[in-house]
Amino acid sequence: GEVHYYDFVLREKNFTKLCSTKSILTVNGSFPGPTISVRKGDVAFVTVHNNGSYGVTIHWHGVRQPRDPWSDGPENITQCPIPAGTSFTQRVNFASEEGTLWWHAHSDWSRATVHGAIIIYPAEGTSYPFPEPGGQETLIIGEWYKGDVMEIIKTALESGDEPAASDGYTINGQPGDFYNCSRETTSRFVVDSGKTYLFRIINSGMNEEHYFGIAKHNLTLVGMDAAYTKPLNTSYLVIAPGQTMDVLITTNQTPDEYYMAAIPFHDGTATFDNTTATAILQYSGNYTPSTVIPYPYFPYYNDSTSAFNFTKSLRALASEDHPVHVPTSVTRRIYMTVSINQLPCTNSNCSGPDGNRLAASLNNVSFQTPSIDILQAYYGNISDVFTGDFPNEPPRYFNFTGDVGNNTVFASTGTKAIMLDYNDTVEVVWQGTNIITAENHPMHLHGFSFYVLGLGWGNFNNKTDPQSYNFVDPPEINTVGLPKNGWLAMRFTADNPGVWYMHCHFERHSSWGMDTVFIVRDGGTNQTSMLPPPSYMPPCSQS
Ligand code: C2O
Ligand code: CU
Repeated sequence: GEVHYYDFVLREKNFTKLCSTKSILTVNGSFPGPTISVRKGDVAFVTVHNNGSYGVTIHWHGVRQPRDPWSDGPENITQCPIPAGTSFTQRVNFASEEGTLWWHAHSDWSRATVHGAIIIYPAEGTSYPFPEPGGQETLIIGEWYKGDVMEIIKTALESGDEPAASDGYTINGQPGDFYNCSRETTSRFVVDSGKTYLFRIINSGMNEEHYFGIAKHNLTLVGMDAAYTKPLNTSYLVIAPGQTMDVLITTNQTPDEYYMAAIPFHDGTATFDNTTATAILQYSGNYTPSTVIPYPYFPYYNDSTSAFNFTKSLRALASEDHPVHVPTSVTRRIYMTVSINQLPCTNSNCSGPDGNRLAASLNNVSFQTPSIDILQAYYGNISDVFTGDFPNEPPRYFNFTGDVGNNTVFASTGTKAIMLDYNDTVEVVWQGTNIITAENHPMHLHGFSFYVLGLGWGNFNNKTDPQSYNFVDPPEINTVGLPKNGWLAMRFTADNPGVWYMHCHFERHSSWGMDTVFIVRDGGTNQTSMLPPPSYMPPCSQS
């Protein structure tokens, strides 16, 4: 493979959207940030120069980073923040993924504005498992806040209440026609008639999943999270924050302008931004566009079944060139509840529900982010940073998705990691609960993609549900929507030594403690052990 070098300069810049101007943190002054384009098998060295005013880290979402958690990026998990005025070089190893991924800041809520696409073309001498597209486009769905995102989460954590919802959605940084002051800047994708285009779609949003569709054009999903899928024909996508979807679109309609839209899929009780981002698919050539631009069809915003069915219909390509390697036996089984909880207030300004503050947990443990990164603590045997006793099961079995009673409201707290041996074959069954409230959660794992073997409504039944697991062509992805009041089973092989974060990709839930860490021990040989740290890592003393 080839070696690429990128400079990412973090700096503030003013942007005007939704009729107001604010300064946001950017990479190289652009929003969304620059695209990384490589082939499978390449390596990129990205030097992050922090010319902003606070410490930040950058994460390569979905890149496995074999044996090299040092460059993964989550703040206080694998590194401390890059202090303002300094730089840090990360090595991004595109050894195993092919398709679309993305990069984003991984410090508090800074990723709202600090993110961009990663395009991984097939390795030299190989090609797509579908005919070469006639053109390619990248489309990033985002969430725009008129306020300062770092302040929004800070205020929310102090008050113990829900953070403010965003003020609008964006497609490639632009809210589009349906918002005030936004018509002129609407994103336009100009296409020729009679071609097939590959659209690489990324949801960089903070707290909402989305439906995405294009009026009168079918979407054929061919890849997800940089792994190919069996072609899936659909009129809309359900795409969660963190997910990437590669779709083929054939321009076989009357030359005209067609709306492309991203609208929220939201099946929880939190207040949300019920607005719509649009862009325009514009056929090239001379014609008079329709006065009423055709608009796509979507299910109702809280239609849990549409999201469930979409996830259930995903299939890995499972071809000779792109095989699946699902572990058929399991050495480590983890049954993990995913819950919204409460915790006692820790300050006097707190005004959350029932006099408490909102929190979130996995197996009733609300994750406490340490002040020294877990990777450094693990590697250097520093005690009192984390413990290795994340429970394999929730503390008590009850009817998770029914009436759960008041005694389950409070979570415990801790920085508990899941310790794995090298080559453990792991099954995680995520179980949604209805403790304070229920909704779909986009669960994400660093360092691995996992196979989604099955999902269902209600409580997981460990006798009957595994009988319906898909071992033939389960999709291999890194972020998945756990159905509201349902379960989802996934497997992966722990063949990547290191420290790997796992969390809900809704920022508010992650901030409330819906997180944990997998630590995969060394395998005992050079090739199965973690690489040594680079000569410079950002210090943990200042941030
Ligand atoms: Cu998109 Cu922890 O990641
Ligand atoms: Cu969540």
